[in-house]
Amino acid sequence: MKEIRDQWGSKIGFILAAAGSAVGLGNIWKFPYMVGENGGAAFILVYLICVVIVGLPVLLAEILIGRTAQKNPIGSFRELSNQSPFWIAVGGMGILAGFVILSYYNIIAGWCIGYVVESIKGTFSSISNPAQAGEIFQQLSSSAPWTLGFQALFVLLTMSIIYFGVSYGIEKAAKVLMPVLITFIFILVIRGLTLPGAETGLIYLIKPDFSAIDGKTFLMALGQAFFSLSLGMGAMLTYGSYLSKDEDLPKSIFQIVILNTKISLLAGLMFFPAIFAQGLEPQQGPALIFNVLPPLFNSIPAGGIFRVIFFLLLALAALTSTISLMEVITAYFTEEYDISRRKITTLVGIFIFLLGIPSALSFGALSDLTLFGKTFFELSDFFASNILLPLGGILISIFVGWKWGMEKAVPHLLDGANEYPTILLNIWEILVKFVAPVLISFVFIYKLFG
Ligand code: PHE
Repeated sequence: MKEIRDQWGSKIGFILAAAGSAVGLGNIWKFPYMVGENGGAAFILVYLICVVIVGLPVLLAEILIGRTAQKNPIGSFRELSNQSPFWIAVGGMGILAGFVILSYYNIIAGWCIGYVVESIKGTFSSISNPAQAGEIFQQLSSSAPWTLGFQALFVLLTMSIIYFGVSYGIEKAAKVLMPVLITFIFILVIRGLTLPGAETGLIYLIKPDFSAIDGKTFLMALGQAFFSLSLGMGAMLTYGSYLSKDEDLPKSIFQIVILNTKISLLAGLMFFPAIFAQGLEPQQGPALIFNVLPPLFNSIPAGGIFRVIFFLLLALAALTSTISLMEVITAYFTEEYDISRRKITTLVGIFIFLLGIPSALSFGALSDLTLFGKTFFELSDFFASNILLPLGGILISIFVGWKWGMEKAVPHLLDGANEYPTILLNIWEILVKFVAPVLISFVFIYKLFG
């Protein structure tokens, strides 16, 4: 017998869970290094514009599909497109993206827990520069038992929440994890801002240098806005499908976007003052958190404790995102195949762990195994972030704007909502029909061929 479909127990539960999906490694690991590499405040400005003109309207479109159909991505597209095989395949692409993203996201997430453990063990207590931290990182990440062990632990953590379902598992977890995460970030921001010399970092974040902006900045910012809001693969669609039709959707979406943006900005506020206070350069790329930060904590008062808090923060942020990724897959199998949630959770967990092994070993035993010059890990990230997600985003906008159509979408949008001025609805229509698909297509083409 089919299980009865679960729903969010409260509006705030939905908002925290969706914000939890959005807030992840994208905000705390990727955003600061992108800001660092692309000119500080100028990048932030372009990023905010992208969030407003593409992120917000597409998020609204994606959640609306789920809320209207009350089904997993494949089921939702099937229902709203009248069984069109093309659109069903678009839903399927989301499930595929869920598998691919989880396979490598779990590895970085596992490292974060590993770094909590290593910080407690004192592994970083006597290092003084990024080169030494880099060596430790190299040693740890290339050790198969270390990487695979923490990857397995992370998959188990995600499974243990998915296992309990939407309102008992995901919602309860989000209600605990999100406030803890926000508290941690505030503690770290205050620590960063009270270091001597922090002003330089603050100025870097506030004073835009427009000469640093070019077409590439825009493409990077749009891609980041997209990944950060968990768009294009059905995670938000699935979360929307557990939402009742009497919630004011545009208002909730707004709150999710604001929370996600605030956390990215706070992550910047936590990094740059601390980095400049230590006289380090911000352009460190993806290695920023694993190479630059561990020694940096040694030179600030009570740094050891803050180091533990920092990696715990990252792990928690990653966890609320992996939960949403795994729920996309779980929702699909429980609804379409009549298998119990518990069985599916176990099977999907094992499968994702196995799928992640080649990516995990990309930093050690399999580091020489490359295709198109990329390791397995890089290939998975490229395939998901640069192909599946943007393509999903383009298709979701086209679906709502043209296939399902605004005449049908808007009344569903207004279910449970206050009166919204027609002008706002018209703006949403223009953004979904034209602006989003065109702009995301630029990013897509650039990332593939640029
Ligand atoms: N938004 C998450 C982050 O910023 C990543 C993510 C992408 C999660 C897609 C779910 C779906 O880390």
